[in-house]
Order: sequence, then structure tokens, then C-alpha cells
Amino acid sequence: MSDDKHSLMIILALAGAEPLAERLARTLRAESGAVAYRDFPDEESYVRIECDVASRDVVIVGSLDHPNDKLLPLVFLADAARDLGARRVGLVAPYLAYMRQDTRFHPGEAITSRSFASILSAHVDWLVTVDPHLHRFASLQDVYSIPATALHASAELGRWIGENVSSPLIIGPDEESRQWVDGIAATAGAPSTVLSKVRRGDADVVESIPNLEGHRSRTPVLVDDIISTGETMIAAIRHLREQGAREPVCVAVHAVFAGAAERAIKAAGASRIVTANTIVHSSNAIDLVPLFADAIQNPSGVRRLGGRGSAGATGG
Ligand code: R5P
Repeated sequence: MSDDKHSLMIILALAGAEPLAERLARTLRAESGAVAYRDFPDEESYVRIECDVASRDVVIVGSLDHPNDKLLPLVFLADAARDLGARRVGLVAPYLAYMRQDTRFHPGEAITSRSFASILSAHVDWLVTVDPHLHRFASLQDVYSIPATALHASAELGRWIGENVSSPLIIGPDEESRQWVDGIAATAGAPSTVLSKVRRGDADVVESIPNLEGHRSRTPVLVDDIISTGETMIAAIRHLREQGAREPVCVAVHAVFAGAAERAIKAAGASRIVTANTIVHSSNAIDLVPLFADAIQNPSGVRRLGGRGSAGATGG
């Protein structure tokens, strides 16, 4: 990107994403603009852009975990930027919410992936995210009507594992993760295997017994795109421990950690939990800011992800 384009770009943070937005702005040598957020006494949202965005390329930065609280301020911010004359308004959402309800699992259910995508597509001009949960949709373009780029953090995960875990065995939680897991294992220079998973409810997951033959001296590293309730990790840890494996390291991209998930994973026997910095959490150890910067600077050269796995029949 030329210096001219850099001077046109201005980064605005969603509430809570200011440190990430500032680091991204520094990496891109772009301006970081101020935005004021607050709630009125009746809980309506107030948003004010406190910088000049006229004729600028606005990049809004912020993860969409806890999406119900964040969506309206995001819509108000994007619309305000457009009203104030921004050339284009893009969104870097390191974690993209509402990707798992991608079909009608039971009669009458809302397919929230589609609704959420159509709202975002109506308010921003482009979207960049990381490892969105693509199961039944082959790509983001199946639901987003704007240019939507899915970056892949597997190289960063693999590098962290290679540098921080001695003699790792990379283990994926389900068949759909095989290709993703193989990529992480290749970067980490380690062997890999996958379990097979059946989810019987939101917090009820059954994992198959892993084949550890030939790998017993290795450190198991469970990798997943999301840790939400933690049930997937917990079921896998239990099986590994029953098989006499060492305490595993749990590595994930998105630290959603619903409820007491983190505590429960540790109680199940994880030696360490490590995540990428797509959602701010104490387990963040894998920095993806260079990945976001690269995607913005080289929009045609970014590492794209078609889907963590192929279309499957199980829920996320
Ligand atoms: C499912 O297919 C995903 O890759 C994750 O395994 C899942 O979303 C993790 O959710 P939880 O922590 O609730 O088991």
C-alpha cells in the first residue's frame, strides 16, 4: 500500500478494542481515531466519532464476542462514518459471532448466521476475520454480500507450539479439523491425529478414544478454533488422561470461554491453556496483529481459509 493510501486510512476501535486498534494502527503507520461510547440512562447507545473521517478509508476494529452488546454500537459507528463522508468503511472483526447457527437444527429455529451476515453486509463495505466457524457454509461469501476475507491462524498456532512445547503431538477434536490440524502440525514439525466427536447438547460432548500408539512420550496438544463451553476440550482431555497420556496443552484461536469454561478445562487436567489474541483474555499468547496488518496492506495476497472443515452433519 502506498504512503498516500496510509495517510487516507484511519483506524477506529469498537469499545474495548482500543489496545488492538492502536497496535494495528502503529503496525500500518495509519492514524488512530477517537470514538466516544456511552449508554443513555434508558440503555440506548451513544456513539460519537471524535476525529475527521471525511474522504478517509475507515477501518473499524473489534471482536464480536458478546455480539448482542456490540452490534448496535458497531452499526451506529459505521453509519456515522459513512454520513460523515468516509470513502469506505471496513471491519476487522478478529472473532466473528453467530457463525455456528448456520442451519435450522430444529424446526422453527432462526438461522442466525444469515441474519447477522446480512446486517453487517448492509453497514460496512468489507470484512476481515480469522478462522470463522465455517461448517455448512464453504466460505464467508455464501452468507456475506460484501468482500469478506477469512484469515487462517494455523501457521501462528503451529509456530507457537513448535517454539513452546517440547515433543508435541497435535490432536484435533473432530474429523472436520483434520486438514486444519495437519497444517498446524506441519508448521510445528510434529505428528498429528484427530478424534471423532458427537455433540449431544450445548454442554454435552462425547469424544472417541484417540490412537496414541507410538506417541506416548509426546506432549498432547489439543487444538481447536473456538473454546466456548469448554466441553469439547474437557471430553478430549478426559479420554487422553484415561489412555494414560500426559496432561495436555490446550491451544485455540478464539477464547470465548462461556461461564466457568476455563476453570473446568483446568480442573479436567489441562497443563496450560493458550489462545490467540482475537478475544481479549488472560490466555492470549499468540499475536495475530501482523496477520491483520498483512491482510489490510495486501488484500489480494492474504492467506484465505475456505473452511476449517468440509460441510458436515454435526452442530458446532
Ligand atoms: C465445533 O465444531 C468447534 O470447532 C468447537 O469444537 C466448538 O465450537 C467448541 O465449543 P465448546 O467449547 O462449547 O465445546
